[in-house]
Amino acid sequence: MSHESHRTEPPVDPAEFWEDRYRSTRGEHGQVWSGRVNEAVQREVSGLRPGTALELGCGEGGDALWLAEQGWSVTAIDISSTALAVGAAEAERAGLSERIRWIQADLATWRPSAEFDLVTTAFLHSPVELPREEVLRRAAMAVAPGGRLLVVGHGAVPPGSKLSHHEQNGPPLPTPGKVLASLHLAADWVTETNALVERPAVWRDGSAVTLVDAVLRVRRGPGPDA
Ligand SMILES: C[S@@+](CC[C@H](N)C(=O)[O-])C[C@H]1O[C@@H](n2cnc3c(N)ncnc32)[C@H](O)[C@@H]1O
Repeated sequence: MSHESHRTEPPVDPAEFWEDRYRSTRGEHGQVWSGRVNEAVQREVSGLRPGTALELGCGEGGDALWLAEQGWSVTAIDISSTALAVGAAEAERAGLSERIRWIQADLATWRPSAEFDLVTTAFLHSPVELPREEVLRRAAMAVAPGGRLLVVGHGAVPPGSKLSHHEQNGPPLPTPGKVLASLHLAADWVTETNALVERPAVWRDGSAVTLVDAVLRVRRGPGPDA
């Protein structure tokens, strides 16, 4: 198919796309994703002292619920109210509702209005329009002095992912180094993790695969009063 023919396709509304995904593509356990914390998030956050956390693109809340269990006070944002409802129901069941605020918002227009000890986002990729670099730059603006930004993404396209189609037509998946460069951070930020990490996994069809996570963790300087 030519590039011209792609350009004439009508744009898909991201909110409609993700609502439809969360309403129609649930697995046997009633969710799209596993409900478990992402391995890279668990690894990167386990050693940190809990405080306030902001999660962008939280989906059904696997990471937000785990963060709350660890003692973080979480604000979790996603464009899909269906996904958020799944997370909120699980929080209620687990007695974590007090610790998680679920917010439906489009990150394309979202602006941070507070600062957090941890701002985290995992697999904020989309086969439809998503200004990821801008969102991540705004994410960095929401980090409190001394706090951290954690960006976990796909380092390679997972097998069978809808992203493969997107990748053929759009820019390649950024390495953590590219993500770091695109953030344009001030000199007092420190890079704590900048790594492509292989992760054995069982894919949806039951096959064994090796996925690659692109992991970036940066810490903002303590500020002039420290
Ligand atoms: C690949 S999923 C990852 C979900 C979750 N972080 C996880 O690891 O399971 C990407 C998520 O980003 C959300 N998303 C995509 N575009 C968005 C936007 N413009 N504003 C807010 N959320 C968005 C989707 O609804 C979806 O939940």
